Amino acid sequence: MYLIRRYLCPLSNKAKLLKITCSSGCLRFSTSAKMSKKFKNARRIEGLDSNMWVEFSKLASDPSVLNLGQDLPDIPPPIYIKEELAKASTIDEMNQYTRSFKPTKGNEWSSAAWILDLKELESKFNSKTKLLIINTPQNPTGKIFSREELKGVANLCIKHDIICISDEVYEWLVYTGNKHIKIATLPGMWERTITVGSAGKTFSVTGWKLGWSIGPRSLIKQMQTVQQNSIFTCATPLQEALARAFQIDIKRMNDPECYFYSLARELEVKRDRMIQLLRSIGLKPIVPEGGYFIIADVSALNVGLSDRKKNEAYDYKFVMWMIKNKKLLAIPVTKFCNVYRKDFEKYVRFCFIKQDSTLDAFEKIIKNWNK
Ligand SMILES: Cc1ncc(COP(=O)(O)O)c(C=O)c1O
Repeated sequence: MYLIRRYLCPLSNKAKLLKITCSSGCLRFSTSAKMSKKFKNARRIEGLDSNMWVEFSKLASDPSVLNLGQDLPDIPPPIYIKEELAKASTIDEMNQYTRSFKPTKGNEWSSAAWILDLKELESKFNSKTKLLIINTPQNPTGKIFSREELKGVANLCIKHDIICISDEVYEWLVYTGNKHIKIATLPGMWERTITVGSAGKTFSVTGWKLGWSIGPRSLIKQMQTVQQNSIFTCATPLQEALARAFQIDIKRMNDPECYFYSLARELEVKRDRMIQLLRSIGLKPIVPEGGYFIIADVSALNVGLSDRKKNEAYDYKFVMWMIKNKKLLAIPVTKFCNVYRKDFEKYVRFCFIKQDSTLDAFEKIIKNWNK
């Protein structure tokens, strides 16, 4: 209390001073005063303060709504990664800046039916193209690119002499009968590919915001320069715990209990349960080959959405209706696209990296859907 008073007093004196100065008319200081032009945001960031994640996080904050939209695993991460974090935080040097890094050497309703149109992809290239980003297994469709498709992409990268960034954050979340292939392993691709991975997706710790890039020294060196001059460091105890979790799982790569495989096994059961439930009310889910999302065609339900604005996409209207009437949240797929919106308007995305109790709550909503 004493401390609070001590600090409050000088503050209240300052406030008085401000009032006097303001009333003297020397200073224009009021909450309604116009902001100096110099304090305004650059025009290029105008409108970026609101986006779909801001909007849907707000909608999900209603405790009566079941959130199957965002990629928030509510399953616990593996015990040893939490234990390693606890251990790392007790070592003094681990609580300081990250150590500098050294590169080392080194069926219609299945997502498989979503085929890459190589001709269309090539038509997007021009003399200024420098870089291509590919994501496999893909969010939100769950598609895993086949070797043939990857070869086609690789040929384009080589022909146009460009860099490939391969986002493989769901590389271990691959379901029965499917195989994830790293584009960097195809001939001529290692030297032009940066492969990106994520602790959040690999070890179910999305709050750690930690990842890695693998690539040739020449490309990683440039990335280090950018990192050094932008974020500079990541949280050292998290990095240490992640490295140790990797050591644990890399040692047991031949063991079915290795988390890289056990998580996918656990999720495949959840995927199949969600698919069945979605089908039971007439939705048409696309069975994902990988990742932890299902997109489902909701158009067959024909729910009346006439009270929404005309220019809103159908999937957005549907999700708003579902939140209000069914207390269930998913993500409208058109929110991921800025072109070809019409093609995606009938799909919404559900996330299935959820505890069984969350899926039980989902089942209850589905069972009551037509009541
Ligand atoms: C395809 C893809 N890449 C990257 C990320 C970002 O991963 P992280 O949260 O580890 O930064 C996400 C997150 O949803 C994703 O779906």
